[in-house]
Amino acid sequence: PRPILLTRHGESMDNVRGRIGGDSSLSKAGELYSRKLASFVETRLKSERTASIWTSTLQRTILTAHPIIGFPKIQWRALDEINAGVCDGMTYDEIKKSKPEEYESRRKDKLRYRYPRGESYLDVIQRLEPVIIELERQRAPVVVIAHQAVLRALYAYFTDKPLEEVPNIEIPLHTIIEIQMGVAGVQEKRYKLMD
Ligand code: F6P
Repeated sequence: PRPILLTRHGESMDNVRGRIGGDSSLSKAGELYSRKLASFVETRLKSERTASIWTSTLQRTILTAHPIIGFPKIQWRALDEINAGVCDGMTYDEIKKSKPEEYESRRKDKLRYRYPRGESYLDVIQRLEPVIIELERQRAPVVVIAHQAVLRALYAYFTDKPLEEVPNIEIPLHTIIEIQMGVAGVQEKRYKLMD
């Protein structure tokens, strides 16, 4: 059966600063991950002539895919990170201090909370539909390099997790989640390439 490999981008400068959203490039650790990911993918998918690499349209996923050679790369806007609207570029602490009502509403209902001029998890889940349809149609392996919220939604879909759990699923940096859909159901493996 064909695997789907899910991973977040390598650590970004905004990850280092604790800022959400944005379109920053990779930190040194993030660049190292991009190279480790490339050797992993090249070994794992060596015999798979038709595998493809899907990223979002944001720098940090495109840069993470960059060292991977020999496979076609496709950029999807639908894989872009949750749009934090008026909170884009802020730290959680800054949101808590300058927009306490927003912070509190999100804490109470993270799944349905929509950032002003941005998105909710439910919005993200909805916009991922075309990506999911295309993923299910693929006969060859796909490596999806995306973002925390987006990967929570994709992972939950393929592993059949309840909607309410989606916003809190753990999707660590620098870890590949391999999902295999077989007759016996879904199988999952995690490869932590670095800390
Ligand atoms: O911090 C990284 C990040 O991808 C942000 O860009 C995004 O807003 C956030 O994670 C999503 O996670 P949460 O829904 O837990 O805030």
